[in-house]
Amino acid sequence: MTVAIEMGLTTAGAAAAMDLEELLATRLLVQGNSGSGKSHLLRRLLEQSAPWVQQAIIDPEGDFVTLAERFGHLVIEAEDHTERGLQVAGERARLHRVSTVLNLEGLDAENQMRRAAAFLGGLFDVDRDHWYPMLVVVDEAQLFAPAVAGEVSDEARKLSLGAMTNLMCRGRKRGLAGIIATQRLAKLAKNVAAEASNFLMGRTFLDIDMARAADLLGMERRQAEAFRDLERGQFMALGPALSRRPLRLNIGATDTQPRNSTPRLMPMPEAALEDMRAVILAAPPPDASRPQRRPAPDLLEQLRAAKAAAPEIRPEAIELPVSAEELAERRERVDRTLRAVLAEPDAGFRAIGVLYQEFVVRCRIEGLGAAVPDLNEFRRMLTHARAGLGADIADDDAWQDVSLRASILPDDMQGVFMMIARAAKEGWPCPGDAAIARAYGSHSLRRAQRLLSYMEEQGLIVCQLDGGGRRIVTLVELAWATAPGDPNGDDLPAEPAQSAASA
Ligand SMILES: Nc1ncnc2c1ncn2[C@@H]1O[C@H](COP(=O)(O)OP(=O)(O)OP(=O)(O)O)[C@@H](O)[C@H]1O
Ligand SMILES: [Mg+2]
Repeated sequence: MTVAIEMGLTTAGAAAAMDLEELLATRLLVQGNSGSGKSHLLRRLLEQSAPWVQQAIIDPEGDFVTLAERFGHLVIEAEDHTERGLQVAGERARLHRVSTVLNLEGLDAENQMRRAAAFLGGLFDVDRDHWYPMLVVVDEAQLFAPAVAGEVSDEARKLSLGAMTNLMCRGRKRGLAGIIATQRLAKLAKNVAAEASNFLMGRTFLDIDMARAADLLGMERRQAEAFRDLERGQFMALGPALSRRPLRLNIGATDTQPRNSTPRLMPMPEAALEDMRAVILAAPPPDASRPQRRPAPDLLEQLRAAKAAAPEIRPEAIELPVSAEELAERRERVDRTLRAVLAEPDAGFRAIGVLYQEFVVRCRIEGLGAAVPDLNEFRRMLTHARAGLGADIADDDAWQDVSLRASILPDDMQGVFMMIARAAKEGWPCPGDAAIARAYGSHSLRRAQRLLSYMEEQGLIVCQLDGGGRRIVTLVELAWATAPGDPNGDDLPAEPAQSAASA
């Protein structure tokens, strides 16, 4: 039996089929400049073949997680697992024949390479009994098999390049069919590209990529010039699973959509200038606080659950007069409870809804049922605690100013800003990327760097590097500056132990 999946229509209007069994034996390379439609093409291929064959997708941007809803792929958040964990996950996915999406979004290049390599290694290493056919799709393959050494460590590059070479050169016997896509053929390691016998070539502008494509396809360079004129979603197909002659085809529609779809041009709204003047220049609301950013949908679920778990506050409990001492004592107990929640391993990386639920339960056990802070208050406390700020600091005058400045940032960034502000105020070394990421509740160093850039763009801080590559952050206007700190260091700023509320 041969299984032909339909990729779309040829320019002559005939169905363009791809022979799945042949594809398993002969692999596929997709190339085309940004926006040419490679990811769309991969999605079409994955959707059409999902009923027939197990799949694994190495997804650097988190584009493909939406396949899970429709086709039941297991989404693995690479950020949440170690290399060893991912290797084992790869093995198990094969043993149990589960289709997976490895989401590498948010990791820096080094970790994307290491973790993809570990997962691919797991797929590769299973016992002969489990060598069932499987499509292994790698989008942005030049990230994992770069032609030249980049900024990542040699070790990461070796691991990743090794895994990609294994996939493309030795995978077939093990049932693994590599399907790789790249924006720039010239940036992809030659030995990896050379192992594919099927090609789908999309719109290409640069001569150097065109020349590489012509070489790979055994075409005259002049012929390859045609790649310039391809439309978005249009590809030239060649290879045993596709067509024996270069065949131009339009990729068909997909059932699912990418999660990160590109912003589209929309007609501008029609409204009278005077109306808009009234709306946009209306007096600001009295409160300095900004509207809350909407949390992601799954977070909403958790928050709802957390709310349901929160005890009803009895009205009479609120109206009871409380002395200042009692209030202070209560605040201390609430703080202590928060510290206990944050002392749990991994607490720094759990969703706020989950943390809040646990916090509420502990408060009830402590007999604080009526004094449990609400979710907004909890969020504020958590922000402070993660940034390593004790309750004492909230009362400091200069600090009020810092809080005010922080309020222009989204809630979840405020803690990071305050952690840095604290270091600047005390003249401690600037926290490293890892500490910044942790205060943000993330493992991603790249995210930490993006956070700093964002704050700099907002005019809150100025970042500089000294001669030794150490970072100094100065707070705008206040002119407090941190001491130089190693961005790659993992230490929190030196702070008095008793005020450390973070785990
Ligand atoms: N055949 C098609 N039919 C309809 N829309 C398409 C088609 N191909 C691509 N598109 C749309 O064009 C846009 C760009 O496509 P896509 O994201 O697949 O490009 P890409 O080559 O992967 O780009 P990049 O290299 O930047 O990731 C997307 O919004 C996608 O939905
Ligand atoms: Mg893409």
